[in-house]
Parts: sequence; C-alpha cells; structure tokens
Amino acid sequence: MRGILITFEGIDGSGKSTVIAEIARKLAEGERLPFRGKHFLFTAEPTEGEEGHLIREKLKRDSQTTRGQASRTRKAEQLEELFLFMADHAHHLEETVLPALEQGMVVISDRYSDSRVAYQGATLQGIVPHPLEWVRELHRPWSIVPDKTILFSIDPALAVERCLSRSEETGTSQMSKDPEKFEREEFLKEVAENFDRMAKGEPERFVTIDANCAKAEILEETMRVLAELLSETERP
Ligand code: TMP
Repeated sequence: MRGILITFEGIDGSGKSTVIAEIARKLAEGERLPFRGKHFLFTAEPTEGEEGHLIREKLKRDSQTTRGQASRTRKAEQLEELFLFMADHAHHLEETVLPALEQGMVVISDRYSDSRVAYQGATLQGIVPHPLEWVRELHRPWSIVPDKTILFSIDPALAVERCLSRSEETGTSQMSKDPEKFEREEFLKEVAENFDRMAKGEPERFVTIDANCAKAEILEETMRVLAELLSETERP
C-alpha cells in the first residue's frame, strides 16, 4: 500500500518548522492526537545529507551579500543554487521519501519541490523565461507531486521580523541592517506571491493556513487540517 506525502510550504519565518517540530514531539510522547495510529516520517529539504550541507554553506555565504541581488555572476550563482537544491531533492526522493511511501507511511516534508518553484521562480526572474513553469517542468519527468500541501501564509514584513528576532536570540543575526532587511522583505514578498499563485492554480492540492496569528492557534489549525487531510486521503 502506498503511503501519503504531505508537504509544508511557506516563506522563511512563516513558523511551519516550529509547528512540525511540535507535532512530531506530541506524537513521539504519545499524546492523544486525532491522527494517532498512523506511521509518520518527518523529513525536510534542504536535507541533512551531503547536498543539503553544501546548500546551507552556500546560503550562509550568500547571506553576507543579499540573496537575489544583481551582480556580475548572478546568473551562474542562481543556476548553481537551483541545481544544488535539485540534486538534494533527487537524493531525498530516492533515499527517504519513496521508500517510506512504499512502506505505507505518512511522509511529512518541511519544504519540497514547491519551494524551488516559488523561491527559484523568484531568483531566476530575468535569467530564464517563465521561471516558475520552467522549474516545475524540470521536476515533472522524475519527481512525484505531493498528495497534499499545507501552505503557511504570512505577511512578509511580519515574517522578516520573526526571522530577525530568532537570529538575534541565537546570536546569528546577519540581516539587522535596514537596507538588507528591506531587500529581504521585497524578496520574500515575491516568493509569497509565487506561493499564492501556485495555491490558486491547484486548489485541490493546496490548503492555506493563516500564519499571521499566535503560535498556539496556528498549531491547533494545522492539526485540524492534518486530521481532515488524513481522513480524506484514507485509502481502503
Ligand atoms: P529552511 O530555512 O527551510 O531550512 O530553508 C533554507 C532556505 O532555502 C530558505 O530560505 C528557503 C530556501 N529554499 C530554496 O530557495 N529553494 C528550495 O528548493 C528549498 C528547499 C529551500
């Protein structure tokens, strides 16, 4: 029996990773949840594998300059980023996602190919024609589309504030200067618009959650949506 693939998407600072971690913790501690009894696998992109580490190193270097910024090597940089994310996805799919689905598990992925369509769809503007469609087509012949996708929708200004306070707490703030903050917000606005467009284009797959509210409310709403999706996608 094939399992179910549910992906979580949204811009940085939308709070999806915190909510996923909380659900995983509740399940591990045996709390009574509306979807207890299913076998879950929690995973993420970028992964913890070799390609995922390369990407994180690259993102860390690039955050010293601002992502999406025009430069002499911008085209090569952005294409490199896309193909690194895709290489990571290929490994993730083959080594983690497909085997778990074959075992009938519920696979919850914190980001998946839609992140590429939304983020690289923004960074590749002006580099390739119709970048969203192009990135989607690059995946089509060999990847699989999630059964359901939960999109955390948040005001980009609030998301940037959340990222800033989180990085200040951990002492890793690299984005506290005003112009960088402004550029980051502009970039995330484009990504958020891409996600919205994608959700409108596939209303049967996407469920949008309002991530502007308090963490406890978002968690409750996510668990409600997840329980509903799992009962909807129940296979006889
Ligand atoms: P994370 O914060 O969810 O770990 O993701 C790291 C960054 O990578 C985040 O800014 C989103 C970005 N990203 C892409 O640009 N394309 C992708 O395909 C993925 C998976 C993430």
